[in-house]
Amino acid sequence: MAPEPYAYFNGDFVPISQAKVSIMTHAFNYGTGCFEGIRGNWNSKEERLYIFRLREHYERLERSCKILKIQLPKSVDQLCDITLELAKRNGYREDMYVRPIAYKGEGVVGVRLHNVSDAFTIFTIPFGNYLDSNNGIRAGTVGWRRVDDCAIPARAKVTGIYINSALAKTEAFENGYDEAIMLTNAGHVSEGSGENIFMVQDGALVTPAPSESILIGITRSSVMQLAREELGIPAIERQIAKSELYSCQEVFMTGTAAHITPVLEVDHRKVGSGAIGPVTKKLMDLYFDVIAGRNKKYIDWCTAV
Ligand SMILES: Cc1ncc(COP(=O)(O)O)c(C=O)c1O
Repeated sequence: MAPEPYAYFNGDFVPISQAKVSIMTHAFNYGTGCFEGIRGNWNSKEERLYIFRLREHYERLERSCKILKIQLPKSVDQLCDITLELAKRNGYREDMYVRPIAYKGEGVVGVRLHNVSDAFTIFTIPFGNYLDSNNGIRAGTVGWRRVDDCAIPARAKVTGIYINSALAKTEAFENGYDEAIMLTNAGHVSEGSGENIFMVQDGALVTPAPSESILIGITRSSVMQLAREELGIPAIERQIAKSELYSCQEVFMTGTAAHITPVLEVDHRKVGSGAIGPVTKKLMDLYFDVIAGRNKKYIDWCTAV
């Protein structure tokens, strides 16, 4: 039997079965937590695991925590070291996922952010494909609107916000799609349930601006940089109308879990020819090399375990 994986919990590495929280935990009752999703990518040639943009994820967690008035127990550098130690102890020889969660812990009844103690944990799991990034997916817009910044700040990766994503994902799934496209309250394109969205139009990437209630993805900014530096393709951040997705040349989604996933159909309309587009394909080839530490130009985006 495989040894039990470790989690980081209450300041220690413990077997994951011992990392338990009380039913009175504030975050369990009210969704008052911030989290990250980080991928470790297995490089089979080097027999080594590379964690992608580790520091950037903890920097985003720090920003999310500031919004939710949660004090992280350690610095970003220390959290990176703890994550590396946890990944090392769990000994993965395959793609994996790291889930740090900073949350309101104390068992109090009372909806607020102040005068509640903070807690922090990290667990890891083996993690293959989340969406069918190899073959592409069908996506549909849904009735649920993306939370607006003045309701819950979408730029913070808050556990409670994922009710919004879950409603959207299940609506899309029950309508026969693989993934949801959420619109803003004003009816513009925002993002997927756990992905940012891009279209390719007239030789440029176009993606909703941060003002469109998106989570500002780390994959999103990595892909924009790769497009610019390696393919000479500019990225434009602006408002996008839903109908632009029907008439553009290519659509893809990006995210830590989803990698780059081609979208072949939106609302029962083929995107382009209905096959994976040439720009999407070039970006995927680049990106999959970069995240597994195979492109040494971007090796400082990867932390070897
Ligand atoms: C709602 C949402 N949007 C976008 C993303 C993509 O962000 P990233 O590329 O940093 O994983 C995620 C995943 O974390 C997400 O949950």
